[in-house]
Amino acid sequence: MRVWAIANQKGGVGKTTTSLALGRAMVARGLRVLLVDLDPHASLTRAFGVPTDPPPPGVAELFGSPPPSLESLLRASSTEGLDFVCAQTALATLERRSATQPGLGLALSQAITRHAGGHDAILLDCPPTLGLLMVNALAAADRLIVPTQCEPLALYGLAGMVRTGEMVERSRQRPLPVSIIPTMYDRRTRIGRDTLAQLQTEYHDRIWSEAIPVDTQLSNADVLAGQVFSGNVPGRAMSAYTRALDWLLAEEQAGEQAA
Ligand SMILES: Nc1ncnc2c1ncn2[C@@H]1O[C@H](COP(=O)(O)OP(=O)(O)O)[C@@H](O)[C@H]1O
Ligand SMILES: [Mg+2]
Repeated sequence: MRVWAIANQKGGVGKTTTSLALGRAMVARGLRVLLVDLDPHASLTRAFGVPTDPPPPGVAELFGSPPPSLESLLRASSTEGLDFVCAQTALATLERRSATQPGLGLALSQAITRHAGGHDAILLDCPPTLGLLMVNALAAADRLIVPTQCEPLALYGLAGMVRTGEMVERSRQRPLPVSIIPTMYDRRTRIGRDTLAQLQTEYHDRIWSEAIPVDTQLSNADVLAGQVFSGNVPGRAMSAYTRALDWLLAEEQAGEQAA
């Protein structure tokens, strides 16, 4: 079972969309996927049609003692093979508690280690802040996937996220390979083309050679969550995500062979 963290310290770069789209693409390849919503904004949870008030059981429970199993928290989506664990808005207060309770950084990783639930992949949809939840995700992950918009300001967020990944890798002494996925690419704009070219020069060894195009069919996360189409999601962006998944799986295999 692989664990991929989808993270970027910048908001609105396509983390939730990428988590859902890769999840759907994996299911289409016959893999069983568990999506974990780690963002207090709970976009992924809402995309699956789960109301956040009153808060649904979910990620917050993993920080209780004793924590319940991941199995007991997951819900089945309307897509066969695609399960998810909800985020609660109260997760935002967890960061404050963490200061007084050391050891919470491994809560997710321990829950995943205990999880025998028959999933081939766990995808962690991270919040845009470097706090306890992101630390938990990076500690649990085998791979860090960084979606990044093709605009100049996004380059700073990306550099910060890559540095954070390297820091985690050093402290845990286990590789955390980084894979960058350019998102919301508009090839009609000069700034988009130039930024993508710059990204590809700077990160050539760990960036996907293509980019996910801007596509209005993906601008509604409910579509990807299967609330609108239970079968294949149409559109250019979804087919691009399928190719991105093939690249990620190939990278994973290359990494395993090198190890
Ligand atoms: N390829 C795309 N084309 C068009 N809109 C997109 C695309 N990817 C994401 N979006 C939209 O951009 C917004 C931010 O994406 P989201 O995945 O929620 O980012 P994050 O999780 O990083 O905050 C959402 O409204 C989403 O539907
Ligand atoms: Mg999000």
